[in-house]
Amino acid sequence: MAKTARRKQLESAALYPLDWTEERSGLVGYTKWFLFRRVPHDISWAQTLGAAALTAFIVQVLTGVVLAMYYKPDPDAAYASVVNITENVTLGWLVRGMHKWGASVFIILLFFHMARVFLFGAYKYPRELNWIVGVLILVAGMAEGFTGYLLPWDNTAYWATAVGININATGPIVGPFLAQFLQGGLNIGTDTLPKFYAIHMLVLPGAIFALIGLHLYLVVRLGVTSPPWSQTAAGRERHESAGDREGLIRDPSAEAEA
Ligand code: HEM
Repeated sequence: MAKTARRKQLESAALYPLDWTEERSGLVGYTKWFLFRRVPHDISWAQTLGAAALTAFIVQVLTGVVLAMYYKPDPDAAYASVVNITENVTLGWLVRGMHKWGASVFIILLFFHMARVFLFGAYKYPRELNWIVGVLILVAGMAEGFTGYLLPWDNTAYWATAVGININATGPIVGPFLAQFLQGGLNIGTDTLPKFYAIHMLVLPGAIFALIGLHLYLVVRLGVTSPPWSQTAAGRERHESAGDREGLIRDPSAEAEA
């Protein structure tokens, strides 16, 4: 059916901002490249674990931003500010709870995602670099947990950090320097808390953002791996399946001969 003049007018009005942006930045093309791509037809829920980890990370960022508006990284005020968030700030208890439990959810999802990648052999050529990027994300994610644990500045936080720093101090050569750097002196003191806070809410989230960007670029560039049991993955020897017998899967070589 031919489009009416009115509809054409509406369509071009709706597309105008997109055309405007595309002509000046190419961003619409990049977004299409990122979102509309081919994936194997036999992928499953297992391949959604990366996106689940991404969602958990975004929840951490959003709840962390709210907490940062009320938290005070000063040894004399930190504990009281956390109590204030939990007891007085509207829905503060919820935001704090989401951030605290969300941290564990994020790490657990990372391990599930890693297990999926490992069991599917998706870390092999040409995706080794993406595995390495993933390991860096995991290390940064665990460092987020370590630095965040000190922030409530209660006894558990203090002594858990003391143990963590002492473990670091036993490392060969760099160990003592690392411990002293983390403490901001010879003991855990007034400089430790602001340092951990800066690392927790600026350095590590920035690094994780950049690494996730690189990770997703590589996912799009290299494509998602088919499951190991896939009958139709590229370069795989074909075995006769129910689909073949019923003529559901086309054999291009047979078609060429005919
Ligand atoms: C914030 C952390 C992470 C996010 C947001 C993330 C996100 C994703 C997404 C969306 C995919 C594509 C679909 C899927 O397989 O789920 C993917 C694939 C992949 N991820 Fe991650 N990931 C993260 C951490 C990790 C870690 C810790 C590793 C391993 C150490 C890893 C290794 C890989 C590899 C090798 C692929 C390619 C898999 C394939 O081609 O089938 N990722 N990631």
